[in-house]
Amino acid sequence: MIDLELALKLAFDISRYIADRISEVNWEEWRRPVGKNPYGTTTKLVDKIAEEAAFYIIDEYDPELNVLSEETGFLDRGYKECLILDPLDGTNNAINGIPFYGVSIAIGSKTLGDIYFGYVYNVVSADEFYAFKGRGIYWNNQKVTRPLKTDMKVIYLGKHAREIRNELGEQVNDELYSGKLRSLGAAALELALVSVGALRYYFQPAERLRVVDIAAGAFLVWENGGIVVNRFCKSLKDLPISLDVRTSVFASLEGKMLIC
Ligand code: IPD
Ligand code: CA
Repeated sequence: MIDLELALKLAFDISRYIADRISEVNWEEWRRPVGKNPYGTTTKLVDKIAEEAAFYIIDEYDPELNVLSEETGFLDRGYKECLILDPLDGTNNAINGIPFYGVSIAIGSKTLGDIYFGYVYNVVSADEFYAFKGRGIYWNNQKVTRPLKTDMKVIYLGKHAREIRNELGEQVNDELYSGKLRSLGAAALELALVSVGALRYYFQPAERLRVVDIAAGAFLVWENGGIVVNRFCKSLKDLPISLDVRTSVFASLEGKMLIC
């Protein structure tokens, strides 16, 4: 097991180095396609620079961890535990000039339920959220003892919006017109905001999120006593740390609400 001090140093250096490296490249270049990741999704220049920056720091530290990263996939470095990395969450925001994107880092071994460290960094605002199993969650180095109280929520509709709205019926429709709904475009950051109570819930009803997007954010929500389930209310703790799974996500500190 990696200790808190090392995990935090590693996450701090990875995220700051990513922020530095991407800022060195002209923003208009960020969207240039440079290949495909293991899911067949186009990798943009900014994703590539971010991931290369992360691997540079990982090589320097040489931690006893395998790596699962969004663009490269699984890198077996001969260990039991794994660093689960999304070097840039919110790429579409970044390449369209919307200043809300970040870095997501978690450490676990087989499933989301055995993660013991989660770290989410907002590259634009420099907000930092982290937790180490059983030691509470921290937002900009302050322990979150009382989560914020808010009525702001996130629902991502996008693809499959119609069928999901039909399935969930009135409840979702009421939420849609409440004036308190947002869709911010970076799942890791949105989950981190749920974990501190800045968002009442995060709901992605389509089966499309990957472990790299949600590992750190889901862990933060669990560590602050919340729930993270799929749209059938099944806990995501059994979700394997693998590239092959996609899931819907509902996360809240409040337990049963909206879908459960
Ligand atoms: C995406 C963001 C987005 C979510 C997508 C993810 P990426 O991650 O988290 O909010 O709706 O499903 O793929 O591609 O920017 O790392
Ligand atoms: Ca990404």
